[in-house]
Amino acid sequence: MLIELAGITKCYKNGSQYVNILEDLNLKIHEGESIAIKGKSGCGKSTLLNIIGGLLPFDKGVMLFNGTDISKLTENQRAEYRKKNIGFVTQNFHLLDDRNVFENIALPLQYLGMPKHQIKARVEEILYDLDIEYTIKREISTLSGGERQRVAIGRAIVKRPLLLLADEPTGSLDEQTEESILKIFSSLHQQGVTLVIVTHDDTVAKSCQHIYKLQHKELHSVS
Ligand SMILES: Nc1ncnc2c1ncn2[C@@H]1O[C@H](COP(=O)(O)OP(=O)(O)OP(=O)(O)O)[C@@H](O)[C@H]1O
Ligand SMILES: [Mg+2]
Repeated sequence: MLIELAGITKCYKNGSQYVNILEDLNLKIHEGESIAIKGKSGCGKSTLLNIIGGLLPFDKGVMLFNGTDISKLTENQRAEYRKKNIGFVTQNFHLLDDRNVFENIALPLQYLGMPKHQIKARVEEILYDLDIEYTIKREISTLSGGERQRVAIGRAIVKRPLLLLADEPTGSLDEQTEESILKIFSSLHQQGVTLVIVTHDDTVAKSCQHIYKLQHKELHSVS
């Protein structure tokens, strides 16, 4: 089992009130599996993805990654866990606006200490796959929404992560670009990458092996 969530509860503090967003949530994800998570706006999908990505602490329950209890790790060990294993397309992209496209996508490889010439080749390959070679030297602030989205996807997959978490990865893409992104996800899946995709889009959801709906603070299997 790659990921195991058991009895996860997460609450946020709003003013003086605590609000439970996830309650006693359970999920098992096998290595190489692809799953989609659907659910109404505000139900806690991004919260759940941030927990799986080791970015957000939770209040109760256990999360195991390859059998390791994530909450028992130090902050540094958790950062190492993310760097080595996880690619994350966050909902608001979190790109570095003052750097160009090449620098944004190259960053995870620099963190891993990859030699410069290999980084260049790999980033060029990714840009080609995403059909945005022409943006290589552009600053993020000059890109369209769909181009930014593809840069965020590029940065998440450039290191060939074991686990790809994607929060609405096709939200601002036209049908044809969405199709090309789905092809990339499908080829990652064939290479054994585990995919967890939050999506409102049925085409994207159906491209995954399992669909879950987050409702009433829990996950329900849809297919
Ligand atoms: N840091 C925070 N403090 C307080 N409340 C928060 C915090 N982060 C999120 N929330 C609230 O928790 C709920 C779940 O948020 P989350 O972002 O996980 O929803 P979501 O399912 O991803 O929604 P969407 O589909 O709109 O992206 C929302 O009501 C949100 O306002
Ligand atoms: Mg969200």
